[in-house]
Amino acid sequence: MKALILAGGAGTRLRPITHTRAKQLVPVANTPILHYGIHSMVAAGITELGVIVGDTRDEVMADLGDGSKFGASVTYIAQDDPLGLAHCVLIAKDFLGDDDFVMYLGDNLLEQDLEAFVAAFSLARAGDQPPAAQILLKPVSDPQRFGIASLDDDGHVVKLVEKPADPPSNLALVGVYLFDREIHDAVAAIEPSERGELEITDAIQWLIDQGRRVRTEILTGWWIDTGKLTPLLEANRLILETIERQIDGAVDEASIIDGRVIVEAGAEIINSTIRGPVAIGSGTRIVDSFIGPYSAVGDDCEVEHSEIEHSVVMERSKVLDIPRLEDSLIGSDAVVSRTKRKPRAVRLMVGDHCQIDVE
Ligand code: DAU
Repeated sequence: MKALILAGGAGTRLRPITHTRAKQLVPVANTPILHYGIHSMVAAGITELGVIVGDTRDEVMADLGDGSKFGASVTYIAQDDPLGLAHCVLIAKDFLGDDDFVMYLGDNLLEQDLEAFVAAFSLARAGDQPPAAQILLKPVSDPQRFGIASLDDDGHVVKLVEKPADPPSNLALVGVYLFDREIHDAVAAIEPSERGELEITDAIQWLIDQGRRVRTEILTGWWIDTGKLTPLLEANRLILETIERQIDGAVDEASIIDGRVIVEAGAEIINSTIRGPVAIGSGTRIVDSFIGPYSAVGDDCEVEHSEIEHSVVMERSKVLDIPRLEDSLIGSDAVVSRTKRKPRAVRLMVGDHCQIDVE
């Protein structure tokens, strides 16, 4: 089995951060979102990865390289315009050949391992009525934002619709799909949707309309489509919940490290309190500050005379003299500082290379 990973597209909902970086590479607990999916795929025994890349291809290619650091091999497939998820399958035809494959949306994060999901498909494929596809569903409170499935009384999928104004159910399609070679006929047969994209939901509907079986599973663990600020901070919180304490950096005697905290080698904690779950990257200096639960501070950052909670601060950024920074996403190489000393809390979404002076 191969994997097709979608790391193209435009990240309009995480601007300004995604003006300058691929949304799939925004870090969650100091690790790019995309890495979690790749690790999960390799753990499921899938190591031949095709990666769809768009405008941000240079960054994605520099980050993943040839895939060897994950124990995988990566073939890049360039998509000139984000013409839809089914378009990605269309342009990956040569890479995929006749193999079964898992399609993984690079901005999705799942608690559950892929192994059982993939094994269930392989087992069903060996049975009397082999399915042509397998989808993963999860009940959501905002079905207008997703692809939505309706099931019959036996739990078989009968209809799929993309971002419906009037949702027929609350079962959203999670961004992990399994297909056999017939999906190539489906993506070649469908027309672009009203929003001008070749929709994978339409391609799966085409399989159903041809009388092909589409297996479904309901996801039990958490799942986050990280494309917006609130879900991104939520993903950061959920991943930080799973970390173990590991202090490899230098912590002076005046500092307190409380609970499950990662301080990477080369980081320095000076006269500060870190209350976990928190991850501090290598080369980062935390001075006279408080870093509270569910915060991730990337590599080579500087935090001085500040309080940070429930926030993501990306690499090489500075947070200086900020009494309280909460629920915030700070891009890389940014400076957030304060000129006047009035105590107040701030909530920010700051792009890469920005300088913000809080009065
Ligand atoms: O997150 C699950 C949802 O993902 C599903 O419920 C929907 O049915 C499905 O259409 C998709 O909706 P999104 O609006 O979230 O898709 P988005 O445009 O964010 O694209 C998902 C990923 O695929 C993202 O990493 C960017 C990449 N992509 C997207 C398009 C449209 C590409 O690489 N090329 C593309 O042409």
